Amino acid sequence: MILGIETSCDETAAAVVSGEGEVVSSVVASQAALHARYGGVVPEVASRRHLELVSPVVRAALEDAGIELERIERVGVTQGPGLVGALLVGLSAAKAIAWARGLPLAPVDHLHGHLATLYLAPDPLEPPFTCLLASGGHTLVLSVRDRGSFEVLGSTLDDAAGEAFDKGARLLGLGYPGGAEIDRLARDGDPDAFPFPVARVAGLDFSFSGLKTALLYAVRGLSEDELASRRADLAASYQQAIVRALVGRLRAAAEQTGDSTVAVVGGVAANSELRAALPDARFAPLALCTDNAAMIASAARFVRPLMPPDYLALDAYSSASL
Ligand code: KG4
Ligand code: ZN
Repeated sequence: MILGIETSCDETAAAVVSGEGEVVSSVVASQAALHARYGGVVPEVASRRHLELVSPVVRAALEDAGIELERIERVGVTQGPGLVGALLVGLSAAKAIAWARGLPLAPVDHLHGHLATLYLAPDPLEPPFTCLLASGGHTLVLSVRDRGSFEVLGSTLDDAAGEAFDKGARLLGLGYPGGAEIDRLARDGDPDAFPFPVARVAGLDFSFSGLKTALLYAVRGLSEDELASRRADLAASYQQAIVRALVGRLRAAAEQTGDSTVAVVGGVAANSELRAALPDARFAPLALCTDNAAMIASAARFVRPLMPPDYLALDAYSSASL
């Protein structure tokens, strides 16, 4: 039994996953409502909220699993990338729990965690495969040869795909986080109403800042009434441009690796148009697309754990070591 803890951004999460990859429990306390009034995550506010939530969330994960802490054999925790102040809360909690019980601790990379949603029961994915990881903080195409690692083939030069969704939603006057809101609104819109560009970037990299600017100009060109009546068309067209960019890069990457299996993980993997556009791809389970701790506990199975006291000096890191 592995206890996973995740506090890299604005979700305080804890989960229990078995060695075979069954999710025994998964508790996510989202702070989205707390940050919504600022239109994005405020790091200091997030750290303070993690501090309040981490113990009750760990307790709830154990309770939901119906087990005592005595049954936990390993602790897995997100070490980075993310907000350092937020990461340190989860990391400190994990160290304290592991140290108190003499347990091994596995430091998990958040991106490896997203990938590890694919390794959970009942249908764990076997590498090799080519994977799109699209979230609020990252947009990457990855080559995965084994469950313990991954190689980055391409990444975004500016905004992440989830960030593009969130910023687009803000321009359209929708709530935060905006991905799910655009997804919902787009169902009532015409995706070909506005000809938004798909950036041409060399290699397997992405760029979304031009698209965001195109939406800004489209919105500026409309009166308030026109905007209200065309909001769904704008959402659908904007979403289609993001989805096209993601699908195009994933297909090109798979061509390069020669893999017949493609997969998609991260918060944007929840997008219904993206899921429909890639009927042959493996997707993270819908409930585990956005940040959670089951993915961290899952990845902890494929990380060499540190024994006490080796992990006490472990530090968090803020950016991906690409
Ligand atoms: O993986 P995640 O929870 O956090 C990071 O690691 O960044 O991803 C959050 C992102 C947000 O930008 C959110 O807008 C986006 O995932 N997202 C979606 C959908 N649901 C969440 N984007 C598009 N369509 C969705 N249905
Ligand atoms: Zn994430």
